Amino acid sequence: MTTLDANPAFTQRVFSGIKPSGGLTLGNYLGAIKPWVNMQGPDFETIYCVVDLHAITVWQDPKELRAATHEVVAAMIASGIDPDSSVVFNQSQVAAHAQLGWIFNCVARVGWMNRMTQFKDKAGKNAEQVSLGLYAYPALMAADILAYHATHVPVGEDQKQHVELTRDIAAKFNHDFGVDFFPKTNPVIEGPAMRVMNLRDGSKKMSKSGESDMERINMLDTAELIAKKFKKARTDPAALPDNLEDLKGRAEARNLVDIYAGLSGTTPEAVIAEYAGAGWGQFKPALADLAVAKLAPISDEMRRLMADPAELDQILGKGADKAEAISRPILDQVYDIVGLVRSR
Ligand code: TRP
Repeated sequence: MTTLDANPAFTQRVFSGIKPSGGLTLGNYLGAIKPWVNMQGPDFETIYCVVDLHAITVWQDPKELRAATHEVVAAMIASGIDPDSSVVFNQSQVAAHAQLGWIFNCVARVGWMNRMTQFKDKAGKNAEQVSLGLYAYPALMAADILAYHATHVPVGEDQKQHVELTRDIAAKFNHDFGVDFFPKTNPVIEGPAMRVMNLRDGSKKMSKSGESDMERINMLDTAELIAKKFKKARTDPAALPDNLEDLKGRAEARNLVDIYAGLSGTTPEAVIAEYAGAGWGQFKPALADLAVAKLAPISDEMRRLMADPAELDQILGKGADKAEAISRPILDQVYDIVGLVRSR
């Protein structure tokens, strides 16, 4: 039996990844970056990765990919991820991801991949034309997580199936080689506004690719624009009720309450208790003020950081060194388990 004690000082290790995409939204902030900030501290060792190898499963303009990588790192640091206490790096710089990813391609079954709903959604009718990398993406994601023996993976609801696949791959590897090597990974899905919806249509996720800029808040929006977007956000004529139950069927109203809760670090219940009976003429300006107060310092700091890519690269480089130091010994053991001769 092979066991591992990579870092006994930490009992629990968090790994999560974010795709480098330009035009980060409030959804990225409340759904990923902010929960990551909150997981820092004595309970967890936190590893946060900009997954550039995942990004290229669909073609990326090289210049834009570089800029997007810098934008995401800037957003992480500006939002409070501390590169000295967390490990912050970009995936392509730590070879263990691709190396373990290949081994997992040989562990995962084609039938498993065929069940991945995200692949089906993304590939659609085009399944014959998309890249092989897009199909194998979940095996690379399993490698991201398991190269660090991570136990906790904060993700959105849409990634739960991939985390379950990670457990299946770990279990099959352990079984096939008769080892107890890879730990069980737990998805961590919590918090209000994990899923921020479109400001014009509460049934759709807020995304950077929607047709109108008015349907989303971008992390780099000015204070005026943020206020305007919330003022114009779609709602319904009714006032806010005094309990969440009564927000059923009022997707846009619920979304604004969730956003308020996410930004203020409270629960939707607390927000509804505070604003029971309030009309939109009262709630929307309060939400806009809150959003500006929270986001303006972050976007200012983002702009400062993005103006100095060399500083960002230095942060990423230090993070890659730390990530390498954790994942290299794990990968070495994987090679030994599998029977790959390590000649140097
Ligand atoms: N697939 C994730 C997404 O699209 C990003 C991701 C890649 C990730 N590797 C990961 C998330 C590992 C958590 C852990 O959002």
